[in-house]
Amino acid sequence: MNRRTLLKTLSLGGIGTLIFNSKAETNKKTIRPLVISTWHNQGVAANTAAWSILNNGGSALDAVELGVQQSENDVNNCCVGLGANPDREGIVTLDASIMDHMGRCGAVAFVEGLKSPISLARMVMEKTPHVMLVGQGAQQFAREQGMEILPNKLSENAQESYNNWLIKSEYQPVINIEQSNKPAEESKITVPPAKLENGEFNHDTIGMVAIDSKGNLSGACTTSGMAFKMRGRVGDSPIIGAGLYVDNKIGAATSSGNGEEVIRTCGSFLVVEFMRQGYHPTDACKKAVQRLMEITPTNPKSVQIGFIAINKAGEHGGFSLNPGFDYTATSNEELHQKHVLKSMLK
Ligand code: GLY
Repeated sequence: MNRRTLLKTLSLGGIGTLIFNSKAETNKKTIRPLVISTWHNQGVAANTAAWSILNNGGSALDAVELGVQQSENDVNNCCVGLGANPDREGIVTLDASIMDHMGRCGAVAFVEGLKSPISLARMVMEKTPHVMLVGQGAQQFAREQGMEILPNKLSENAQESYNNWLIKSEYQPVINIEQSNKPAEESKITVPPAKLENGEFNHDTIGMVAIDSKGNLSGACTTSGMAFKMRGRVGDSPIIGAGLYVDNKIGAATSSGNGEEVIRTCGSFLVVEFMRQGYHPTDACKKAVQRLMEITPTNPKSVQIGFIAINKAGEHGGFSLNPGFDYTATSNEELHQKHVLKSMLK
C-alpha cells in the first residue's frame, strides 16, 4: 500500500498519529531533555531549577513541580504565589494544576494561605481519586498532608498595588500589560503590575512543560489569577485542558493570559490536538489562537493570550494573540534561551 492510499484508508485519529510519526521520523535529532516555561523574566530561575533535575536523569514531573515553585516562592512576583496581587477583597487566592505522562492530573483552585499550590495539586493527583479540590476543602486537605496555611498578609508590592487600585476600585480585569508600549503609570490599564528591577514588567502565570531523558512529558501551571478579580473567580490555570494539557504520545501545552478566553477554547487541549494532526508546536499554538479569535465575544485587542508547546520529538514553539509574549527554553542545545513569540495582531 503506498503512502497516499494508506492515508486515505486510515481513520482521522490514525491519520493524526501517522502524520506525527512520519514527521518525527524525518526529524533527524530528537531533543531531550527539554523544558520550556512562560516568560523570560521568571522563566530563567524556573528553568534553572527544572534543569537541575532533568539534566541529572530526573523525571519531567519532578522538574516541572520544582521549576514553577521558584515563581511561587518569589515574593516579588506580582502574579504567582502568596506575594502576588490579591482579589478585590484584598485576599490572595491561588490556582494550580499539574499533569504527567500517564494522564494523571491534579489541580487546586481558590486556595488561600498556601505557599506551594503546585505541590498540593500534585498531592491531589497522587493521593486522592480526584482531579480538583477548591477553597476550604483544598485547605483542609493541605493541612491533613502537613502543609502550613498562612494568614493572609499581602507582600509589600501587592499592598501598594492594591492601595492604588482601591483609589478607583474599577472592575476592569486586564491581565497583561506587556501589549502596551506605555509605562505603567501612563497606561489606561487600571491594574498596576509590579515592575522588575531591570524595569521590565512582571507577568501573570507560570506554565511549564518538559520532556525528560526517558521521553516522558509533564506540565505544571500556577497563578494568583487576575489582579483584583472578583472573589471566587477562577481562570484557566487549574483547568486541565485549558491552562495545561499533556498527552505523552503527542506533546504538551500550557497558556498564559486571560484565562476566560483560554477556557472558552479548551486552549491547551486544542494545541495538543493540532500537534496530533502533525502541526509543529508553533503552528499548533497559532491555530489555537486563530480559533480563539473566531469565537471570542471580547475585543481581541483588549486581551492577551499566549500558548507554548513541545512535542514528543523535542520541538518547541508558541504563539500569542497580541505582541509582547515570550518564553524560556532550556536543553542541551540552548541554555535558558529567550524566544519572542509571533502574534496574530500587531
Ligand atoms: N491565566 C491565568 C488566569 O487567567 O487566571
